Amino acid sequence: MRPTDFPRHLWPLSVHFYQNRLFLGRHDLADLAERLGTPAYIYDLPTIDHAIAAYRHGLEAWPGPGLITYASKAWLSLPLAQLLARRGLGLDVVSLAEMTIGLRGGFAPSMLHLHGNNKRPELLRRAVDAGVGAIVVDNLHELSLLESMRSAKDMRLWLRLNPDLLAPTHAYRQTGHHGSKFGMTWDDALAAARRIAAHPHLHLTGLHVHIGSQIFDLDPMLASIERLIDLAVAIERAGWGRIQALSPGGGLGVPYHPDDPAIALHTLAEGLCAGAADAWRRRHGGPLPTLILEPGRSLIARSGVALYTVGAIRHLSDGKRIIAVDGGMSDNLRPALYGARYTATPPRNPLDEAAGPARIVGPLCESGDFLIEEVWLPNVRPGDALAIPVSGAYHLSMASNYNGTLRPAVYLHTPDDLILLQRRETIDDLMRRDQPLSF
Ligand SMILES: Cc1ncc(COP(=O)(O)O)c(C=O)c1O
Repeated sequence: MRPTDFPRHLWPLSVHFYQNRLFLGRHDLADLAERLGTPAYIYDLPTIDHAIAAYRHGLEAWPGPGLITYASKAWLSLPLAQLLARRGLGLDVVSLAEMTIGLRGGFAPSMLHLHGNNKRPELLRRAVDAGVGAIVVDNLHELSLLESMRSAKDMRLWLRLNPDLLAPTHAYRQTGHHGSKFGMTWDDALAAARRIAAHPHLHLTGLHVHIGSQIFDLDPMLASIERLIDLAVAIERAGWGRIQALSPGGGLGVPYHPDDPAIALHTLAEGLCAGAADAWRRRHGGPLPTLILEPGRSLIARSGVALYTVGAIRHLSDGKRIIAVDGGMSDNLRPALYGARYTATPPRNPLDEAAGPARIVGPLCESGDFLIEEVWLPNVRPGDALAIPVSGAYHLSMASNYNGTLRPAVYLHTPDDLILLQRRETIDDLMRRDQPLSF
């Protein structure tokens, strides 16, 4: 492979070649795999900052206030929360654990937004007590829980609209169509707004929509924003509140594979914000609310590299190799869950000519335990490292202990340092909840 054929845009910004070796900053990735042990995940801080800057650039196309709120489902840990809180982002959380990590990471409670389609009473209570910035009401049942909660505290609520739009993405990532479990119909949203207006402690401050994830086509997203703005107009005309926050969710796509659209994040973010501004001017025209973008994937996917070590290699009669590595669906469920496609490279000789196609599989007892269905790779031998880019989002947050797999260590690469964010899980970690029989 010529260096110019290398899909540079899939790798963190700090990745570069030196003498046919792949480096992350000053670190040889193959050496790192040996030194750190594998599987290991490394996040590149300059790439995270670059994504934040792309969103900030995008928000300049919105003439009102704006906020970037990280969707922590993509991956959250205490140090990542600390990093993002220091950069002035908000945090989208869906559970008590995510909320607690966010708070301990230094987010002000007002910067947290609580999402989810089935928030239990205890979670709602804890969110109200913590004073989160918004509880995003997903359905009328949840509203009833909030109405009946005995609390003297004011509760700031957003309504999540189901705009009945099919996002152009995998069915499992569509969240805004009729039949989806998420969000309220137009009529339910109006009914909710009326009920909130009649309640002494509930305040409707925002509207939210999120039609899905890994979307490159802005049109359906802009259509969902138009419906949200129309809902704002209807609610305000009825006198049920003034919409101060407008959130079109997250969902912008990132390329994972050389064949994926390679649209720059700042172009997508700018198109989204400019389209939202235009829609607001045409359909509402009043003072601009705060536009709250909620990226998960596009904020951290590209910054993450997964490092594995090659083990058994099977040579099939058609020339294909089945290359087993030491991680799989336990740290990256996405290929099994929705056929996600990736590329890979041996960091030791990344520019060598491909020796043929290979299927990259894991060590787990499932035929669905694969990472890449087909990738053209140079010759690799047992013990060689293999690096998979675009591994930062929805890998570790969906990781499991299947077959007793211990979850990988996670590092942060900065221009000066390599910092451990999360140590590798241990067997003791795994057994911590077990209660030995006492009889
Ligand atoms: C409500 C909400 N906001 C934001 C996101 C983040 O989406 P993405 O990671 O595609 O940016 C999600 C993810 O599903 C979500 O459910």
